Amino acid sequence: MGRTQKKSGSKKRWSTNRILMIASPIVLGFVWMLTPAESAFKQAATWQRLTSPGPLSAAHASLEDDCAACHTSVSGVEPENCISCHANNAALLKSQPTAFHANIATCKECHLEHQGREHRPTLMDHTTLSYLGLRQLNDGNPSGERERVRRELQMWMRHVGDESLPHAGVTRDELILNCVTCHGNEDPHVAYFGDGCAICHATTAWNIPQYIHPSSSSTDCMQCHKAPPSHFMPMFMSKCAKMLGKKPDSVKQCYVCHEISAWNNMKDAPWHKKTMSHIPSR
Ligand code: HEC
Ligand code: HEC
Ligand code: HEC
Ligand code: HEC
Ligand code: HEC
Ligand code: HEC
Ligand code: HEC
Repeated sequence: MGRTQKKSGSKKRWSTNRILMIASPIVLGFVWMLTPAESAFKQAATWQRLTSPGPLSAAHASLEDDCAACHTSVSGVEPENCISCHANNAALLKSQPTAFHANIATCKECHLEHQGREHRPTLMDHTTLSYLGLRQLNDGNPSGERERVRRELQMWMRHVGDESLPHAGVTRDELILNCVTCHGNEDPHVAYFGDGCAICHATTAWNIPQYIHPSSSSTDCMQCHKAPPSHFMPMFMSKCAKMLGKKPDSVKQCYVCHEISAWNNMKDAPWHKKTMSHIPSR
């Protein structure tokens, strides 16, 4: 599998990793600033004179006659208006990928409106996240630490060449994000591949169409997989291995017991032994 094997990569790749490691936690570690700096809505209270650009989403249909629920004159769509109704969304704040809502200062970038009833008003935009992160670093102190980091990141984003990007599915803007802060819980590689998810993954979908898994007759499973804690219990080799009729030299020989289709599929095991729940416990 091309990508994973390039783990130790070129010097350029290394510098990308380094930026990820040094810069990203900082970008998302600070409190979001209170007001978005340049909002189109700050220019003029155009919305008051305009008709609605389109019907609201189904969830907000009841606000069709209450433009001011979301729009404030002069400044436009204010996050405070959204927050007044959505402040206490415990599920949103508890879930790792959306916990950033706790201190975000803008909503409309990802929650478009006026697209009609059928349109769910949520669109995840990782590039927006990057810009929000940079904006958040701007605390008005031109000689401060945050400003220094912000300038360094912007410089890096401007100068990194296409050839240094890990792949075409991720942009230089997105690379400043620290993926694990939001997606660590979804990591099926149990941290084996490190924090830089973007080295292999795009931000649109986790699957990698061009990826081909090594064959089940290969023997280097350990290169990419870590055995779960159960495998290091004293009984594991003596009982489980025996029950499967397998005699691996050590737990490291995953391929002796496992198929590649699913961890529950054991090699040569009759169907009723294919999941642990079907293996008698004594
Ligand atoms: C549930 C919140 C909500 C309500 C209620 C709402 N809007 Fe909006 N409106 C938005 C959001 C968010 C945007 C900006 C994002 C976008 O383009 O979808 C927007 C954008 C607009 C724009 C486009 C502004 C521009 O310059 O692009 C106009 C005009 C507008 N709204 C008018 C109205 C009118 C008139 C009403 C009442 C009939 C209304 N809106 C009710 C949320 C709302
Ligand atoms: C007057 C109260 C009110 C305001 C103002 C308001 N909302 Fe809502 N919103 C609701 C209600 C009620 C629902 C539907 C029930 C729910 O999901 O909580 C909803 C649903 C949503 C949903 C889920 C939609 C779906 O279909 O999954 C999102 C996202 C959302 N609002 C974002 C916003 C944003 C962004 C703004 C500001 C532009 C905003 N809301 C302004 C009351 C409001
Ligand atoms: C960077 C993009 C982004 C920004 C900015 C953002 N959100 Fe969200 N929001 C999301 C995503 C993504 C989801 C989760 C959608 C999912 O997984 O179902 C979400 C979910 C929500 C939900 C729950 C929707 C539901 O289905 O129940 C609400 C309410 C909400 N956001 C309100 C807000 C408000 C209010 C703001 C501004 C203070 C805001 N969001 C800013 C991306 C964003
Ligand atoms: C501040 C939080 C945050 C950061 C940082 C972040 N994401 Fe996301 N990401 C989200 C949210 C929210 C969604 C919407 C779906 C969800 O709720 O999981 C999402 C969706 C995704 C999806 C689509 C998932 C699906 O099943 O449709 C992928 C892939 C993804 N992100 C990859 C990345 C990568 C790679 C990085 C690092 C470059 C990254 N994300 C950084 C919050 C974040
Ligand atoms: C060295 C490359 C590499 C890195 C780094 C990496 N992954 Fe993966 N990941 C893969 C490959 C290859 C697949 C299999 C893709 C497929 O089957 O289409 C995968 C699959 C996934 C899947 C889908 C699993 C499934 O069964 O559907 C998720 C979710 C995922 N990775 C999350 C992450 C997260 C989160 C990170 C960062 C903490 C990360 N990955 C880092 C290579 C990597
Ligand atoms: C070059 C890296 C690499 C090697 C070598 C490798 N795998 Fe994988 N394997 C992956 C990635 C990436 C995924 C997809 C992400 C995930 O689910 O962990 C995966 C997924 C799996 C899955 C989960 C399938 C599913 O959808 O649930 C099993 C089982 C598996 N591998 C077994 C093996 C076995 C057995 C070996 C040795 C014969 C092996 N792998 C060798 C990278 C590798
Ligand atoms: C002696 C046979 C044997 C060997 C060798 C072996 N396993 Fe397993 N594995 C099992 C059995 C039996 C189960 C089901 C019971 C369990 O979850 O512990 C299992 C389950 C798993 C699961 C699923 C655990 C879960 O919680 O869903 C993973 C992942 C796994 N093995 C990875 C590995 C890896 C990686 C290796 C090599 C480093 C390996 N195994 C070596 C027999 C083996």
